[in-house]
Amino acid sequence: MRAREGDSPAGASDGPSLPAVGAGLRRRLLRQEGGTPPEAPPARVVAESWPPAPGAAAASARASPRPADGAALVGYMQRRALEQFAGLVEAAAGGPQGRQALKQAIAAVLVEQNLVLAGYTRDALAELLVAEIAGYGPIDPLLRDDTVSEVMVVGPDRVYVEREGRLEAVGARFRDEDHLLGVINRMVAPVGRRIDRAQPFADARLPDGSRVHAIIPPLALDGPALTVRKFTAQAFSGRDLVRLGTLSGEMLEFLAACVRGRLNLLVSGGAGSGKTTLLNALSQYIAGEAERIITIEDSAELRLAHPHVVRLESRPPNLEGKGEVTIRMLVRNALRMRPDRIIIGEVRGEEAFDLLQALNTGHAGSLGTLHANSPRDALVRFENMVLMAGEALPHAVVRAQIASAVQVVVHLARQPDGSRRAVEVATVAPDLGPDGRPALATAFRYFPGRLAFVREPGFTLDPLHRAQVAAAGAALPAWLEGVEPA
Ligand SMILES: Nc1ncnc2c1ncn2[C@@H]1O[C@H](COP(=O)(O)OP(=O)(O)OP(=O)(O)O)[C@@H](O)[C@H]1O
Ligand SMILES: [Mg+2]
Repeated sequence: MRAREGDSPAGASDGPSLPAVGAGLRRRLLRQEGGTPPEAPPARVVAESWPPAPGAAAASARASPRPADGAALVGYMQRRALEQFAGLVEAAAGGPQGRQALKQAIAAVLVEQNLVLAGYTRDALAELLVAEIAGYGPIDPLLRDDTVSEVMVVGPDRVYVEREGRLEAVGARFRDEDHLLGVINRMVAPVGRRIDRAQPFADARLPDGSRVHAIIPPLALDGPALTVRKFTAQAFSGRDLVRLGTLSGEMLEFLAACVRGRLNLLVSGGAGSGKTTLLNALSQYIAGEAERIITIEDSAELRLAHPHVVRLESRPPNLEGKGEVTIRMLVRNALRMRPDRIIIGEVRGEEAFDLLQALNTGHAGSLGTLHANSPRDALVRFENMVLMAGEALPHAVVRAQIASAVQVVVHLARQPDGSRRAVEVATVAPDLGPDGRPALATAFRYFPGRLAFVREPGFTLDPLHRAQVAAAGAALPAWLEGVEPA
C-alpha cells in the first residue's frame, strides 16, 4: 500500500501490519460531522475524502480529491475488526445476515470512538467499511446491485458497468493501483491464485458464482484491468428470451424440439453475446430423469434444473505451474462416465477433437458454445480447433465428421442497443456439400432494419434429423411437419 503524506498505510484490503491510529491522525482532526453529542468524546478520526459512497452521485465522486484519512480509518477499523471480531468478518462473506452483524459491530466502534468521515452518515460509513473489510471495496455495491450485469475496472479511476446491455461509466473509484490490486487479490485468493508482476493475470470465481478476470501491468498498460461477469440470480428461461426479443416464439419452439429430439446443437456468437445464457435456457428442454448429463466448463455458469447432472470444472495450473486440468481432459473423463449428453460451456481448443469423436459415437443431444462470427464461421472454427489437437486427421475427414456430428447452429449477436438477438438459426446437412464443406441451411434470420425474425421460406428439416427427433420421442413444430398453422 502506498502511504500518502506519511499517513498510516491504507490497509483496506491486504495490509497485514497496520500501525495504530495515533498521533499522526489525531493531529489532522479536520472537522466533525453534525456536532458532538453532549456526552460523546471528541471525534478522533475525521477525513476529508474517500472514493464515493455507495450510490454517491457520479459527478461529486469525480470531483473528490484523493483520500487521505479515509484510508487510515479503513486501516484502523480493519485492525480492530481482526482483533475483536474476526469471526464476524468471516461470516460477512457468508451472506446478508453475517454482513449485517459485521456492520452493527463496526457501527458500534464508530459510536464508541466517535469516528466520523466528512460527507458520510454513520450508516453509510459503516457500509463502506464493511465493503472495504469484508467485501470488494468500491465496487462492492455494484456487485450487489441486481441491475448490473458486468463490472469493468480500468485502473483505479475508471469503473464501468453494464446495465440492460449498455455500458455506462460510474463514479466508483479506488484510492490507487495498490488498493485495486488488493481487491483483485482478495477476489482470486480463495481459489488459490495470486496476481503479481510474475503472474500478471488470473481467472477466478466469486463465492456467488460471478466470473472474474484480472490482468495487471506490465501486460495491462493503463493499470490493473478487472472484469467481473456477474452471476445473475435468476437464469433466463426460453420464454424470458422470447420476451427480451432474443428469439421469436417460433424459433424457441424449433430449438426446443431440436433439444428434446436430441440433435447436437452449437450456440455461436461474439464475446458477451449471450451464448451461455441461451445454452442454459435450451438445456432446460432436456426432458426426463432418464438422462445423465455431464457439464464441462472453465467456470461453472450453467444451472440445470435437471435432476441427474454431473458438473465438472477445469482447473488452471497452480503457482508452480502444476496441476492443470484442461477441458480436454475433462471431456475424456466424461466419456468414461456414461453420459447421455455432454454440455460444454465453451469449445475453444483441442477438446474439439475429443468432443467430435464423442458426438459421432453416441451422446446425441449434446450442446456447446463457441466464439464465431456466423454459423459458417462456427463450423470453420470447430474444424480448426479439431486440427489444432494434432491428431493428423485429413481435413476432409474432419469436415465429414463435423457434418455428421453437428445438426444445429444458433448464432447470437449483440445489437447496438444492447439487446441480444439470435440472428441466424441454421441446420447442418449430414453430408458434405459439393464444395467439400459442411452445408448449412438457414431456418431463421433476424433482420435488424425490420426488427423481425423471419423463417426462411422453404426451410425443412433433413430426413435424417427428422428421424432422429422422432426416435427420441419428440414432436416437431406443426409448420415443420408440413402443416402450416392457420
Ligand atoms: N438474451 C439476452 N438479453 C439480454 N441480456 C442478455 C441476454 N443473454 C445474456 N445477457 C446478458 O449478457 C451478459 C453476457 O451473457 P453470457 O454470459 O450468456 O454471454 P456469453 O456469450 O456466454 O459471454 P462470453 O463470451 O463471455 O462467454 C450477461 O450479463 C447476461 O446477463
Ligand atoms: Mg459464455
